[in-house]
Amino acid sequence: MFSPVKTGVTHLRLNHFRSYAFMDLALETTFEPVVLTGRNGAGKTNVLEAVSFLAPGRGLRSVRMADVARRCEMDRTLGGNVLTLPVRWSVSAHVRTAAGAVQIGTGTTGDSDRRQVKIDGKNARQADLGAVLRCLWLTPAQDKLFCGDPMARRRFLDRLVGAFDPNHADRLTEYNNAFRQWSCLLRDGRFDAAWLDALETQMVMNGVAVSASRTDVVARISDNLRRGTDKAFPTAEIILTGALEKALAAQPATAVEDMFCAQLKHARKSYAEGGSLAGPHTADFQVMHRQKDMDASLCSTGEQKALLLSVILAEMKTMTDEQGVCPLLLLDEVAAHLDVHRRNALFDILAQQPTQVWMSGTDAESFAHLAGRAAFYDVADSTLERKVA
Ligand SMILES: Nc1ncnc2c1ncn2[C@@H]1O[C@H](COP(=O)(O)OP(=O)(O)O)[C@@H](O)[C@H]1O
Ligand SMILES: [Mg+2]
Repeated sequence: MFSPVKTGVTHLRLNHFRSYAFMDLALETTFEPVVLTGRNGAGKTNVLEAVSFLAPGRGLRSVRMADVARRCEMDRTLGGNVLTLPVRWSVSAHVRTAAGAVQIGTGTTGDSDRRQVKIDGKNARQADLGAVLRCLWLTPAQDKLFCGDPMARRRFLDRLVGAFDPNHADRLTEYNNAFRQWSCLLRDGRFDAAWLDALETQMVMNGVAVSASRTDVVARISDNLRRGTDKAFPTAEIILTGALEKALAAQPATAVEDMFCAQLKHARKSYAEGGSLAGPHTADFQVMHRQKDMDASLCSTGEQKALLLSVILAEMKTMTDEQGVCPLLLLDEVAAHLDVHRRNALFDILAQQPTQVWMSGTDAESFAHLAGRAAFYDVADSTLERKVA
């Protein structure tokens, strides 16, 4: 059993990041929760988003990199019109990790949608960030996760899996690229057998690996889900409902590869005529509230949020057990929908984590239970001010 290593951001600096022209935050108390409170539009979520860029991916809003650059009125006129131009942005941070102190710098350097990364001053790949820091988050956009678009659920699932399997995101991209090309060929009526065969080989190899990773990670989390973290939180059960994930529960991966390969060949004609194809790109999952024996989509908004928190807490516990390092947690508008009993139980759990938790909310009062155990900041007009407890 590992003794968990404390992880946290000790210094955060933003440049031309959304509403922040410049922001420099030195955290004196390294590992205690960071609580940002302020009115709507004050700049709280922007800070959480900046922290999320210390991990691989498109951040907690999942956006194009150009959208992140600060929009500001430039003193430049063209044909009499004042232009609003995006500028380059950057986030830099000092982070305490299992491997010691690490400096991370990230941002865009031009018009490209690619995010550059530097670790300790050296150019690095985004994927390398995953080895330095893991990051999990919950945002208000996920409050309707169980009732809304399956694509949002898939994204949630794949982020969850990617936090355990560093190759997952790349395999998913490979699968999606091959599927897109396969789909275009067929819909355009170009039945090039050799090309289709090659794409199907890619789809089978990457698609079954993606589904197997989803099945594996959900199984690994399930023990901690069943045990639960605190009786204030419902026991959640994740049931994968995708065709390949279901097949993998009953057959070895090689048999599922053969099955998917045969399905693809068979689907060529029907897909070209406008039919659909079930694969990793249509996968979904269901969450059950075990005490109520009820599908999460039928639970109240507050219960749904508590179920999501149960999943995140189980994920965090599994990572800590397996890797000895707890991921950074970003909880945007965390108090919304939670009753005071659950909220305070959550704060007690979070205050004991060996990692830093960043939280935001509009109402400072709802964090009163954390008094003396967290660093509180007032956020107003994209300026942070430390509150004295
Ligand atoms: N690229 C951008 N450039 C400048 N301002 C932005 C950009 N993106 C968002 N904003 C502004 O940042 C402000 C703060 O947003 P946010 O951090 O989401 O507020 P909140 O405190 O409610 O979480 C909003 O008023 C929004 O209009
Ligand atoms: Mg916000």
